[in-house]
Amino acid sequence: MRFSGKTVLVTGGANGIGLATARRFASEGANIALVDLDEAGLTAAAQRLHEITDQVLCLPADAGNAQQIRAAVAKTIDQLGGIDVAVAGAGRGSPNVDVFDVEDDDWDAVMQVNLRGGFVLGKAVARHMIETGREGAIIFVSSVGAELGVATQAPYCVSKAGIAMLTKTLALSLAPHNVRVNAVGPGPVRTAMTEPVIADDRLRGLMLSRTPLGRFGEAEEIAGTISFLASADAGFMTGQTIYPDGGRLALNYVVAPPV
Ligand SMILES: NC(=O)c1ccc[n+]([C@@H]2O[C@H](COP(=O)([O-])OP(=O)(O)OC[C@H]3O[C@@H](n4cnc5c(N)ncnc54)[C@H](O)[C@@H]3O)[C@@H](O)[C@H]2O)c1
Repeated sequence: MRFSGKTVLVTGGANGIGLATARRFASEGANIALVDLDEAGLTAAAQRLHEITDQVLCLPADAGNAQQIRAAVAKTIDQLGGIDVAVAGAGRGSPNVDVFDVEDDDWDAVMQVNLRGGFVLGKAVARHMIETGREGAIIFVSSVGAELGVATQAPYCVSKAGIAMLTKTLALSLAPHNVRVNAVGPGPVRTAMTEPVIADDRLRGLMLSRTPLGRFGEAEEIAGTISFLASADAGFMTGQTIYPDGGRLALNYVVAPPV
């Protein structure tokens, strides 16, 4: 098994892509630390993970709160012996308004979790990996929104674009220490975050008209890409964002075919 004896910490691990990622790593032998705001979700997630492994640590914490994240990292090191892979999966959307109508506080709240949260986790884990001489991997969960602007999701898109540069700069700093840093940028994936889109015929149709594979992705497919980035198969990859997106970024403006 690829991750036997390794410890993987996942923020946003109680649901969706984070939970699927934790399950994937656990099924490949890893010990798991789940960090999330959603305490009931953590309990339910731990029950599902216990079907695969005994080694599950649940840590209620806000990804945007540096003190809480540093404490979660310290507790994982203390109880599970170290961290080999960190996945920054916690994320939130923006209020659906044009950028000139975004409240300053809403801007900050999105940046706090999506961008600062990644920075804080990356920093805490990087120090530990350097100090213990681990060949670690850090993976940020970005989005196609890092590349494709949505007028009514500016804070979200800007935060994810920031993650792309955080990925590059942290990768450069950590390369001499054999710690790799990459990001995964999903297209539309069937989780709680996309439930309102999936439930609305018009929005679902619009989304699928821009997704060449013609379906929403599954959280397990993103987990597969994340586990690849953490594995030795990606041993020469660092500083990259890769996009499991159903072909979304490959698609230019679509015009009706000539009749
Ligand atoms: N679903 C998609 O289509 C999609 C597409 C691209 C990127 N993403 C990204 O994937 C990541 C996971 O999203 P998902 O689709 O699985 O959604 P989800 O709502 O199923 O899961 C998000 C998890 O993050 C947790 N979370 C949110 N804010 C937090 C905070 N401040 N501190 C700790 N935990 C927090 C939630 O409690 C939840 O468990 C996010 O970063 C999101 O931006 C999702």
